[in-house]
This record gives sequence, C-alpha cells and structure tokens, in this order.
Amino acid sequence: MRELRESEERFRLLVEHVQEYAIFMLDQDGYVISWNSGAERIKGYRAAEIVGSHVSRFYSAEDCENGKPARALATARETGRWEDEGWRVRKDGTTFWANVVLTALRDRGELRGFAKITRDLTERRLREQAQRAAAVHEAANRVKDEFLATLSHELRTPLNVIMGQLTRLRTGKLTPDQAERAWDALERNTKAQLRVVEDLLDTSRILSGRLHLAMQEVMLGTLVRAVLEEMRPMFEAKGVHLFSQVAPAAIIGDPARLRQIVNNLLSNALKHTPEDGRVDVEMAATDTEAILKVHDTGGGIPSDFLPRVFDRFAQADPFVTRVQGGLGLGLAITKDLVAMHGGTIEARSPGIGKGATFTIKLPLAPATATDSEWSTPNLVEPEG
Ligand SMILES: Nc1ncnc2c1ncn2[C@@H]1O[C@H](COP(=O)(O)OP(=O)(O)OP(=O)(O)O)[C@@H](O)[C@H]1O
Ligand SMILES: [Mg+2]
Repeated sequence: MRELRESEERFRLLVEHVQEYAIFMLDQDGYVISWNSGAERIKGYRAAEIVGSHVSRFYSAEDCENGKPARALATARETGRWEDEGWRVRKDGTTFWANVVLTALRDRGELRGFAKITRDLTERRLREQAQRAAAVHEAANRVKDEFLATLSHELRTPLNVIMGQLTRLRTGKLTPDQAERAWDALERNTKAQLRVVEDLLDTSRILSGRLHLAMQEVMLGTLVRAVLEEMRPMFEAKGVHLFSQVAPAAIIGDPARLRQIVNNLLSNALKHTPEDGRVDVEMAATDTEAILKVHDTGGGIPSDFLPRVFDRFAQADPFVTRVQGGLGLGLAITKDLVAMHGGTIEARSPGIGKGATFTIKLPLAPATATDSEWSTPNLVEPEG
C-alpha cells in the first residue's frame, strides 16, 4: 500500500514539474480539474485561477463560435483521441502556436474525463515561416536574375542583326537584291525589338493599373481574319499549315488589344510548331459568347508546367525557349487583356510533343450587332 502511494506520489511530482508540456485534466464535460506547472508557464494561468473553467477558454473567439472546442471533445469521446495544431490564447490575450493532444480517459469503459497535453511550438512555427519566406524571396530573386538575362538576350539579338545590316548597307557595295534583303532584315529586327519593349511597357502598365482600353464595338470575326492574313506569310515561310474557320461575332473591346491577343496566341503556336505541322484557328459564337480556339500540333506543354503557363516570365524549357526567343510575358499579358474584356482563357495540352490548344471566351456585345458582321460593306465573306 505504501509502495503504491509512493509510486503515485512520484508520478504526481513528475507531471507537476514538467515544464515543456502543459499537462492537465478535464472532466467529462470539458472543465479543468488539474493543472501542472508547464500549463502555468505556457498558458499563464495559475492553477487556482483556472481549475473549474471550461476548456473553451483557451480558444480564440472565432474557434469558439465555430464550435471547435466542443468538436474536439466529441471526437476524443468517440475515437479516444483528438490532435490539432493551431493558435491558442494565453491569459494575457497573446497567442501561441500549439500542438494539442486530447485523450479520453476511460475506466472499465466509462468516460472519466480527458487528459490534455499542449506543447508551445511558436518558435518552431516562426522559424518555419521565416524559412518559407526566405525561400519565396530567393525564388523571386532567381526569377528576376533569369529575366534580366533573358531580357538582355532578347534586346541584343535583334540589335546585332541591325548593326550587321547597317554596316553592310554603309559599304554601298550591295547589289539591289542584297540591299533589299538587308532592309527587310533591318525592318524585321527593329519590329522584334519594338515588340519586346512594348511587352515590357504593357507589363508595367498592367502591374500599376495604368493600362486602359479604348472600348468600341468590334467585329471579332473580321479582326481575327485580318490578323490571320497578316501572319500567313510567317507561317508559309516556316512551312506550317494554317487553317481557319471563323464565324462572325460582335463584341465590345479594344481592337488593338484584341489583335494583340490573337497575335500572341498565333505567334506561340507558330513558334512551337515544327515545319509541316499545322495550326487550326476556330472561332464560333454561342448566344452569349465568342469562342476562339488556337490549336497546334507542336511541342505541347508539359503537364507540370501547364498551371504556370500564364505566369509572368514563365517559360517551360529554358533551352528550347532560348533557341526560340521570347520573354515569357506574352501569355501573362494576353490573360490580363482577356480578363479586362470580361473573358477567360484556358490552355490545354495532352503533354510534350502532343500539341496545345488555347481557348478564349469573350462576352458578345448586346444583340443586334452580331448578325450584321458579315453584311457590313468591305468585309470578306465567311468560308463556305
Ligand atoms: N502553343 C504553345 N505550345 C507549347 N508551349 C507553349 C505554347 N504557348 C506557350 N507555350 C509555353 O508557355 C511559355 C510562355 O508563353 P509566353 O507567350 O508567355 O512567352 P514566350 O512566348 O516564351 O515569350 P513572349 O513574351 O515573347 O511571348 C512559353 O515559353 C512556352 O514554354
Ligand atoms: Mg509568346
């Protein structure tokens, strides 16, 4: 008997003096019935202040409103145990990040109460948060570094060509044919460089909310066909077959920006489709929206990259994209422009080497206008 008492006493002392853990007991209804010094240290209450209080006192007002303390007790009652990590409240109102284990205590099947063990993991939590923040910061820095490298490359490449052609023209010794080709190269590369700068400006305007649309009624079918015809020579030059099926649709939008949207999707399709591949442009209209699909049979988009394809600066394969060029801004700008028109854009690809499809949906202009697109003078007739 004495031995039993001594062993119980030792156990009581052990629990009492543990500092790192708040160890306390609750009765069947969740009221505190014992309190160790660890609990005093972590939660700030002395035993006399807290014994008799309900366990919900340690939870935030929001947790209490959501019924979290009652749910915890119910779970422990039913399954024997409940564990949680979350913010808890100290006596002085400050919070700490707690790991909590609640265990039902049963004596021959009958519930006698609960043992509750709480650890203060605030420091670990803060350390982890700091590590995560540092990792995010580092990743952002890496993106910035890579972007600077890409940008310099994208600006220098056309500039090299421009310098080269200027030097050749300067000599005055070119045949008319050679001179013509030199001028072409000058124009092409100047335009390429202008596009890089314009994409940068657009991005900065979008980021600062200074990009404004000049909205008007736009015959989208006509606009899409015009962009297709403008770009057709580039497809022919690369030997990529371009097919289109375009239905009329009137929308409210900024014509220059809508051209940019179509242009970006077609440029990407062309860039990623090898010789003899094909690009299909399909535009249809439902009662409420215009649906534009650009499908290509090119390199496709890896499934792990697909969710980031519209992110600023995001490019799938740095090696391929270095060869192909580009800043990784086109789709980010496109997505923002589509959103500013009240529309959505979606990318699909069955995987690497299997082509890609981009689908844009834009709300139609209020009725009447739509039907008149093809009957407007000077417009091309739809293909049969
Ligand atoms: N049709 C497509 N087929 C395969 N991959 C594509 C296609 N369109 C876009 N991608 C992938 O998405 C990335 C981002 O495209 P985005 O148009 O934003 O940038 P970019 O074409 O590399 O550069 P730019 O800023 O000149 O448009 C591309 O680098 C490419 O990896
Ligand atoms: Mg692009």
